[in-house]
Amino acid sequence: MHQDIAKILLTEEMIQAKVKELAAQISDKYRGTGRPLHAIVILKGATFFAADLLRRLDIPARVDFMAISSYGTRSSSSGVVRILKDLDHPIEGQDVLVIEDIVDSGRTLNYLLQGLKQRNPASLSLCVLLDKPDRRVVDVHPEFVGFEIPDEFVVGYGLDYAELYRNLPYIGVLKPELYKD
Ligand code: PRP
Repeated sequence: MHQDIAKILLTEEMIQAKVKELAAQISDKYRGTGRPLHAIVILKGATFFAADLLRRLDIPARVDFMAISSYGTRSSSSGVVRILKDLDHPIEGQDVLVIEDIVDSGRTLNYLLQGLKQRNPASLSLCVLLDKPDRRVVDVHPEFVGFEIPDEFVVGYGLDYAELYRNLPYIGVLKPELYKD
């Protein structure tokens, strides 16, 4: 275990088993629509999860990326979101699945989903690996959720603190003495 991690919350095996389950659920939902799934991966945190998830889908899919910046601190997003990199392709008439690593207050995703809705996709759903329901301020209900987790400062498998720890293969709780809000 990395020396900065107080405890492992989700092991690599737990994550990969869940990814497999989610991929099966998503494939079942979109199979037979007659058009490819249009996956939108939100940079940067979701890239590790999305790479594993998308490789396990057994349906046709396109992948596009969006980079956003949410003003605020790590432990509290403001909900004012700036698009740093927009999608390369239009989503009108597409079955869109937004892939995110975590929904916390819900502010970022609420803002993002409202914006995407205005582009008239045929359908718009959300898949998150982690959900911290205790922290919710704005109503966001992901259709696909990997794990509900307690309100602890987690890093790994895409989640960072000061851009570190994203490359850990598991999700762990950072030692509290190592971070400042
Ligand atoms: C994380 C996460 C969500 C947001 C969730 O992104 O990927 O976008 O925070 O927080 P909320 O529900 O309180 O709005 P972050 O800003 O850490 O960017 P990153 O993915 O590049 O690390």
